[in-house]
Amino acid sequence: MLVHIEDIISKAQAGDYAIGAFNTQNLEITLGIIRGAVAQHSPIIIQISETTIKYASLKAITHVVTTLAKNESTNVPIALHLDHGSNFLSVTECISAGFSSIHIDGSKLPFDENVNLTKQSVEYAHDRNTWAQGEVGTILGKEGLVKKEKNLIKPDEYMTDPEQAADFVQRTNVDTLAVSIGNMHGIFAGQEHLDLKRLKAIREKVKLPLVLHGASGVDAKEVAEAIKLGVKIINIDTDLRRAFTNFLRQTLQANPTETDPRQILSPSIDAIQELVEKHVKIFGSAGKA
Ligand code: G3H
Ligand code: ZN
Repeated sequence: MLVHIEDIISKAQAGDYAIGAFNTQNLEITLGIIRGAVAQHSPIIIQISETTIKYASLKAITHVVTTLAKNESTNVPIALHLDHGSNFLSVTECISAGFSSIHIDGSKLPFDENVNLTKQSVEYAHDRNTWAQGEVGTILGKEGLVKKEKNLIKPDEYMTDPEQAADFVQRTNVDTLAVSIGNMHGIFAGQEHLDLKRLKAIREKVKLPLVLHGASGVDAKEVAEAIKLGVKIINIDTDLRRAFTNFLRQTLQANPTETDPRQILSPSIDAIQELVEKHVKIFGSAGKA
């Protein structure tokens, strides 16, 4: 069933588990995510990025998620969220489309500009009964990793500063906060380590649900520690995309004459389901629906 994000996160806040926020791009990935959640009786967030909105159109992808959430998961709560909204227009469009939560990502802007953009988005969202996620600190991806490895950037230059996080929350009134604590977008298994000391320091100053982006490739034990330190939402994208495309390649190679898209795509849907089941068990949300 489709619910407001508050229904899911307020329960997780009171418990000792986190909620997976899984990115979807199409019908098949959505099916796999929802089947995984249903199989494990786990509440989840399904999130949509601006790139997916450009690819599938806001109306179509929203309908896919909301219709499947209503019909495939009758008693498993699912919330719809905008991931990495880069501007105010994206925020307004997704709220009009019925999202119960939006992420306004001003993390690349100078701090004061991030505060202003986030504050404007939060006010708009709250007036329309919608939650808003802000972001402080820079979450690295491939390019940043190279710079980090070459020691061109130091943790204090890109990770979330606890004092600044507290100031940001106080000035913007966000509902959830995305932090940079060593997490990176993409899979960099073995190179992605969470700075749990920093997370603890952030937690001491910020009592809101914290969001861990870039969780694909992060060690399960570190994820479990992060949950104990206040992470309540965990974003997974690359892991699902990689599984989907790997299975698609394998299926096509193994069945070069198959022309039925349903046959070709089914193993990929199953792979997504399996991964979602694995993640929600790690996050501790299995059985919490
Ligand atoms: O916003 C989306 C996530 O942060 C996904 O990160 O691709 O490393 O799983 P990931
Ligand atoms: Zn992210």
